[in-house]
Amino acid sequence: MRMTVVGSGYVGLVAATCLAEIGHHVVCVDNDIEKIATLEAGGTPIHELYLQELLSRHRGGRLTFSTSLEAAVRNSTVIFIAVGTPASATGAADLSYVETVARSIAQCADGYKVIVEKSTVPVRTNELVHRTMVQEGREWSEFDVVSNPEFLREGSAVTDFLYPDRIIVGANTDRAARLMRDVYAPLLDGSYAQQSGAVPKPEKARLEPLFLETSPQSAELIKHASNAFLAMKISFINAVANLCETAGADIEQVRKGIGTDRRIGTDFLHAGIGYGGSCFPKDVAAFRTVARDLGVSFGLLDEVHKINDEQRSLFVKKVRSALWTIKGKRLAVLGLAFKCGTDDVRESAAIEVIKMLLEEGAQIVAYDPAATERAKTILGDSISYASDAYSAAEGADALLILTEWREFLQLDLKRMKKVLRYPVVLDGRNLFTAKQMNSAGLSYYSVGRRPAEVTANTVRTAPRTGAR
Ligand code: UGA
Repeated sequence: MRMTVVGSGYVGLVAATCLAEIGHHVVCVDNDIEKIATLEAGGTPIHELYLQELLSRHRGGRLTFSTSLEAAVRNSTVIFIAVGTPASATGAADLSYVETVARSIAQCADGYKVIVEKSTVPVRTNELVHRTMVQEGREWSEFDVVSNPEFLREGSAVTDFLYPDRIIVGANTDRAARLMRDVYAPLLDGSYAQQSGAVPKPEKARLEPLFLETSPQSAELIKHASNAFLAMKISFINAVANLCETAGADIEQVRKGIGTDRRIGTDFLHAGIGYGGSCFPKDVAAFRTVARDLGVSFGLLDEVHKINDEQRSLFVKKVRSALWTIKGKRLAVLGLAFKCGTDDVRESAAIEVIKMLLEEGAQIVAYDPAATERAKTILGDSISYASDAYSAAEGADALLILTEWREFLQLDLKRMKKVLRYPVVLDGRNLFTAKQMNSAGLSYYSVGRRPAEVTANTVRTAPRTGAR
């Protein structure tokens, strides 16, 4: 099929590339001339597993890039809108880009088109897109508006797109639903995975995802509710971690204990300095606004946000109590990205913690395997940047782990102890165990677990109860 994807951000670029990978002819349109020039010249603006490979495979063939929406729309039946929906000052999603694109599509459409909402949008946006099309003179029979939310995660975006758990299609007509089924046919029947050169299926992924047809309103709500639910799981476990610290319990044991109940599951129950990124903070805020605008009380979402916010200050408090004072201390930070596997630093909890430490007068030297360049655009020269974990730690008063990069687990902890000025590690992601740290001679402070201090060759674990 011939299709257009409007927007070349995370969702747009990955969707366009993967749609080409499963056999479609795709034009990815963006009004950012520089970005399109970079993509056409072979550049890959984001750090994402398999993306570079798939772009090289399809660029100039089934996948082209353009700044002209009109030509792309005229040649396509299915047009995905994947432009940004950033948070506005009130917390509501700013839908002005979606509106502009919908209006432009209406103005140049010739013949039947299916307009697909791929961006995360509040419930009833579908009706607004529909109204805009009619305002611009399109007949009802000339188009359908479908909500087809995307659930890809940064870091595993390509495999999430190609091997989804479910494909949600919120459509008002059978014609549009059928077309969407055709779009995803190679994923729905598992035939894509059998192709030679296919991106390998992750072990736990479904071979044949569920195709769920819903009303457009349900599809829009499914997206916001999914992200809010996952954010709630994280805030829940963080609140329990705070209880564990005061009660002398261990959050990792508690996580296992509750997560092995299959109704709950252990995923998204990792305690730490909280969630960040371009989705959860924005979507929780937007969902709160949706509920408020619809006159529905949903105070739980306020609490999810509040717990997440407090998690960062609680960690800074922990640094203060481990070091006595923060002013003038040299702190080594491992991790700047909002999570592992990405160079994205938007709403990164690591960056928020760094800003708070800087305000208290700390000097920071940071290392991140992928996100340093992006972090520089936010933090500039307010901190120093190291090219590896050991040089970041050289002469530091403490080592702070702020992003859950798996590669930090390969660190030689004995070497780390030698380069640090004081043997103190504060782990905001619970990557390590106290045993691992203590056997390397390092005192260890984490989230929801008792501090394990090393003093003159002895390990001292804090009493079972007491204030944090
Ligand atoms: C999230 C959702 O997981 C995707 O399903 C969704 O499609 C996407 O938002 C979106 O709406 O576009 P993403 O923002 O890439 O994906 O990142 P996640 O893997 O969900 O992590 C979000 C944050 O939660 C990170 O800061 C991570 O460190 C934190 N996190 C995650 C925890 O603190 N604990 C956990 O147990 C899991």
